[in-house]
Amino acid sequence: MRKIIIAGNWKMYMTQAQSLEFLQVFKSEIEERVGTREIVLCAPFTALGLLSKTLHGGIIRLGAQNIHWESEGPYTGEISGPMLKEIGVNYVIVGHSERRQYFGESDQTANMRLRAAQKYGLTPILCVGESKAQRDAGDAEEVIINQLKSDLPGVNQQDLVIAYEPIWAIGTGETCAATEANRVIKLIRSQLYNPDVTIQYGGSVKPDNIDEIMQQNEIDGALVGGASLDPLTFARIVNYLA
Ligand code: PGA
Repeated sequence: MRKIIIAGNWKMYMTQAQSLEFLQVFKSEIEERVGTREIVLCAPFTALGLLSKTLHGGIIRLGAQNIHWESEGPYTGEISGPMLKEIGVNYVIVGHSERRQYFGESDQTANMRLRAAQKYGLTPILCVGESKAQRDAGDAEEVIINQLKSDLPGVNQQDLVIAYEPIWAIGTGETCAATEANRVIKLIRSQLYNPDVTIQYGGSVKPDNIDEIMQQNEIDGALVGGASLDPLTFARIVNYLA
């Protein structure tokens, strides 16, 4: 059975105070039926501890946005698996295109981070996807297959989430057509040995496209950036109509 996971990626937004304000509204807007859907908030490191205490025992899970491959060490500015685990984090985003583009993340480091997440008991959400130039050149499939080949060696597919995030659709308002996202996600699934890996779509997911996205039979959830920052908007997304 493939698990449905709707995750918000807050990126570098939300202070602790803003996170608590968000929760107050968000929790009251989540409908009963989301019980079968996992909801994850990937918050900045500074908000995770407080959110964990506030959410304790509830249905909302927490995710981090990065993890270092060592358990500790002289790596200024990094955070480790045991540090995240200790405060009740369950998921971690790995290889997001913003990390690849602005912070030198490579497939090699993504692979190390994926394996570290699993080693320390966190489920990684691996992001893959092509740029506009790669899509226009007809290389999207090859790029994604190569990312998977480089990112996944040694990774346990029983404990993995993948997000297909076409870079040209991230933060641009330009969504990939739901049927096209479904096609690419089917291709991603064909590259895996575990057919039950949850594969999300990410890139300008909004209340007005989530229902169609979730109607696609290969798509198991969404990774939502901008639209996850507003509690009412994100609640409408997690309450999508199946
Ligand atoms: P977006 O971001 O929803 O703002 O396009 C998605 C992401 O970066 O995960």
